[in-house]
Amino acid sequence: MQTDKDLAFQSKLYQRVAARISAAIESGALRPGDRLPSVRRLSQQHRVSVSTVLQAYAQLEAGGVLEARPQSGHYVRAPRALPEPRATRPPQETAPVSLSSLVAGIYSTCGYDEAAVGFGAAYTPFSLLPTRQLGRLFVAAVREAAHGGAEYDAPPGHLPLRQQIARRSLEWGSALSPEDFIITCGATEGLNLSLMAVARRGDTVAIESPTFFGILQMLEAHGLRALEIPTDSQDGMQLDALETGLKRYRVAAVLAVTNFSNPLGSCMPDANKEKLVGMLARREIPLIEDDVFGDLHHGPARPRVAKSFDRRGLVLSCGSFSKTLAHGYRVGWVAPGRFQDRVQLLKFSQTVATTTVPQRAIARFLEGGSYDRHLRTLRRKLAESMHRIGAGVAEHFPSGTRISQPKGGTVLWVELPRKVSALELHRRALAEGISIAPGPIFSARQRLSNFIRLSTAQEWNGRVEAALVRLGQLATELA
Ligand SMILES: Cc1ncc(COP(=O)(O)O)c(C=O)c1O
Repeated sequence: MQTDKDLAFQSKLYQRVAARISAAIESGALRPGDRLPSVRRLSQQHRVSVSTVLQAYAQLEAGGVLEARPQSGHYVRAPRALPEPRATRPPQETAPVSLSSLVAGIYSTCGYDEAAVGFGAAYTPFSLLPTRQLGRLFVAAVREAAHGGAEYDAPPGHLPLRQQIARRSLEWGSALSPEDFIITCGATEGLNLSLMAVARRGDTVAIESPTFFGILQMLEAHGLRALEIPTDSQDGMQLDALETGLKRYRVAAVLAVTNFSNPLGSCMPDANKEKLVGMLARREIPLIEDDVFGDLHHGPARPRVAKSFDRRGLVLSCGSFSKTLAHGYRVGWVAPGRFQDRVQLLKFSQTVATTTVPQRAIARFLEGGSYDRHLRTLRRKLAESMHRIGAGVAEHFPSGTRISQPKGGTVLWVELPRKVSALELHRRALAEGISIAPGPIFSARQRLSNFIRLSTAQEWNGRVEAALVRLGQLATELA
């Protein structure tokens, strides 16, 4: 039985453990974003009970020093939490998109330069991808294919791959069958085919503001007008603003990145997804859903897709393995609902078929059962680097900076003080070998001049940290 004396001793004990952790943070031995040892490990190291460590962690958590992340552990919190960016207020008018030359100019510089520290492009680094294993499966697929892979896997695409994707759709809250999918060259092709299936030149498509510049380029290429809808950095497209837009304009389709959008990182709550699908169904407006980041959630559960609420076949849901396995394999999908025949015809007319061998290699990877294990590690590492980069921004960027707090994905959206020109910051940073993605490329009208997107798809190291410090200094000079 524990006496009062024992309890008093124990309570002092947990305070001592907490004080030691605080001292380590103050001395810089533990930095913002660092993961603390597991409760069991620390209890062994300090020769105290597990409950003492739990009490110490709880005290530090209550004091805002640590934060617990589901299934991941305890982390040192950023020294000052920055507010989230304000929702943008795009003019409630439709506009043609003319962005390609700006994007081409910027992206030719910040995409693949290995020498630069890349906060520019949101490609998952190869060090976090199972490239070797996939390479072996690629070679095996060449050997196993009847003609070395020279044959077509004609649309809708390789059946075993569609079977695997259909199995995974259970996790998205849907129960789609292999027949519901068409394999595409990345999500990009799925989105393009969907736009072509439901909209014609001159039509208006409602999109998030800000949105992925690739989506803006697609609208431009198809001669479509954009209706930019204010978007919340947590909850995604604001449905009341969309409702207003739909009353005012004839909208051919809505296109939204429902889970961990790019660049905001917003994740539309399930209730909003359901509401959105219902709202559009009443007006017979198709929803094109882009779910390339859905598997990269930080929390325990994968968010649902809007498609899971679709009863009328009006949702065309697109995804790919670009963020989780291999962007160069160009393997994605679209589940086009009632537009299946039209999309399949368009797929055939555009590219005939998706390349055979990458489809087969990815099917084999999924069949082998290691995708979930790979995702667990990938998610943990990406969450850690996002947290570290966010903490670095809080520490080194000028006062007045705001930053998104995504619960998944690979990007942070940073609102800088009004005076800072993101394009100028991009130029100055690039001259020092640091790439960023400036806000204007995420807006149909090239607005958002004081915003930047930072890619967190990288492994945290001293070089990344130094680049972040320098970026903060450059932003401070411009402010
Ligand atoms: C929101 C979004 N959609 C689509 C894509 C393109 O995906 P894929 O490489 O599969 O074509 C990207 C790539 O960055 C993206 O961020």
